[in-house]
Amino acid sequence: NTEIIKIDKVKFETKELEEAINILRRGGLVAFPTETVYGLGANALNEEAARKIYAAKGRPSDNPLIIHIADKDALNELASEIPKVAENLVEAFWPGPLTIIFKKSDKVPMSTTGGLDTVAIRMPEEPISLALIKESGVYIAAPSANTSGRPSPTKAEHVMDDLNGKIDMIIDGGPVGIGLESTIVDVTSDIPTILRPGFITKDMLETVIGEVEIDQAILDSESDIKPKAPGMKYKHYAPKGDITIFEGNLEDVISQINKKAKENVLNGIKVGIIATDETVHSYNYGIIKSIGTRKDNTSIARSMFALLREFDDLEVEYIYTESFRDAGLGQAIMNRLLKAAGHHVINA
Ligand code: TXA
Ligand code: MG
Repeated sequence: NTEIIKIDKVKFETKELEEAINILRRGGLVAFPTETVYGLGANALNEEAARKIYAAKGRPSDNPLIIHIADKDALNELASEIPKVAENLVEAFWPGPLTIIFKKSDKVPMSTTGGLDTVAIRMPEEPISLALIKESGVYIAAPSANTSGRPSPTKAEHVMDDLNGKIDMIIDGGPVGIGLESTIVDVTSDIPTILRPGFITKDMLETVIGEVEIDQAILDSESDIKPKAPGMKYKHYAPKGDITIFEGNLEDVISQINKKAKENVLNGIKVGIIATDETVHSYNYGIIKSIGTRKDNTSIARSMFALLREFDDLEVEYIYTESFRDAGLGQAIMNRLLKAAGHHVINA
């Protein structure tokens, strides 16, 4: 049975985390909020505990986990090499939504790294996750707390929908702030490389460490190149409905979506539309929902996964969405949306 506890992330006391701490210490599974998405945590240095994560999520065992730490010194224990660029990144962005790939130390079991000799490490800034790591004394391996292949969880309810009965505890700390998983940057290559775009953008990284590359495999939808982050190759974030992204001039996008939605709705097919606050009143058919405002991309990032799950619950068959490309956070948003859509894009 899965126990659910509610914790106020602004004002809570350590003793409220006592049971979660005990579960982690004895090798169990606890889902908890981070600033990005909910994570499914277990003791990262305990092979058996890490294995339980894969079982609960139905996750392929070659897809490595991120280790969450609460103290920068932990790096010396988990990484065998800490390049200068990494030191600068840690200084600038930890605690926060940045995961860094290092060469792993012998302490980190292969079951946590999916058989790789590198390890992903992140220091979250969300107070509940930090307290959980600090007070338990456990380094927490945590993937997103969803069933493998489903949209990442941004609320405790999403975790319940996917993992109820399969894990020991869910800490409900309310909705997360960012809503997209952390940026992953690999510092083991000559030029640091972004393996997964996120809230910390390429520009932000470059301001601190100079030139940064983006893994070609995640930019190019047609390519057969294998992404450097094993998880990026899986069809992911996918809702049950079929998603089409419409790109181009916003007026053309609206008129094309209206046309497609009308066609399908008149044929008795359930359609969902992902609009924005600015455009939500321009649509006439289907279930129309705003994902946020175009004036602030963070609002779009925050509600995207929840919206995809809502359309799942409504058993929508086709989802038509506007596009949210831009150089900053738009890159992370579109990376997730394109994957969810199986790269199905129409130029309006
Ligand atoms: O924001 C986040 O990063 C969330 C929260 C819970 O911290 N966690 C998360 O974990 O998104 P997960 O397991 O859903 O995604 C981890 C990604 C996967 O794509 C995995 O392949 C990649 O990180 N990864 C982990 N270790 C790696 C390594 N050593 N080398 C390359 N990629 C790695
Ligand atoms: Mg995930």
